[in-house]
Amino acid sequence: MKRTIAIASDHAALDLKAEIKNHLEAQGFSVTDYGTYTKDSCNYPDYAEKVCNAITEGKQDLGILVCGTGIGMSMAANKCKGIRAACCTDTFSARFTRLHNDANVLCMGARVIGAGLACDIADIFINTDFEGGRHQTRVDMVMALENKR
Ligand code: RB5
Repeated sequence: MKRTIAIASDHAALDLKAEIKNHLEAQGFSVTDYGTYTKDSCNYPDYAEKVCNAITEGKQDLGILVCGTGIGMSMAANKCKGIRAACCTDTFSARFTRLHNDANVLCMGARVIGAGLACDIADIFINTDFEGGRHQTRVDMVMALENKR
């Protein structure tokens, strides 16, 4: 199934973002770049928010956020309502965070993994569907935490 992808990075992952975007577009995916567009120092939460809004507003199906570690982007994204972001450094985690967690945002670190692995992780994330069933109950419980306290 073809999906639309929102992608963003901070300055630390500008080159990795371009590699992932080119890789996915070569396969026919629609990839929209929400910034940053230069290597000037910037603040990753701004870009996490742009991608998360695009997903929760229904403009894009899945998001990819890259920064130095992937951690700051995943922390910021998981503060946005309706977002389930997973920071992945391996393909197994990418597969299972779609199968079991219905993750809608993939985060990766440009200072942690190379472009080849990042593209493999993105491929698996995008091409794997949520299993539903017993996992839906758990995902519903995760999302309910947004409204507690
Ligand atoms: C920027 O130096 C760096 O802090 C950022 O890219 C990211 O790794 C944060 O989690």
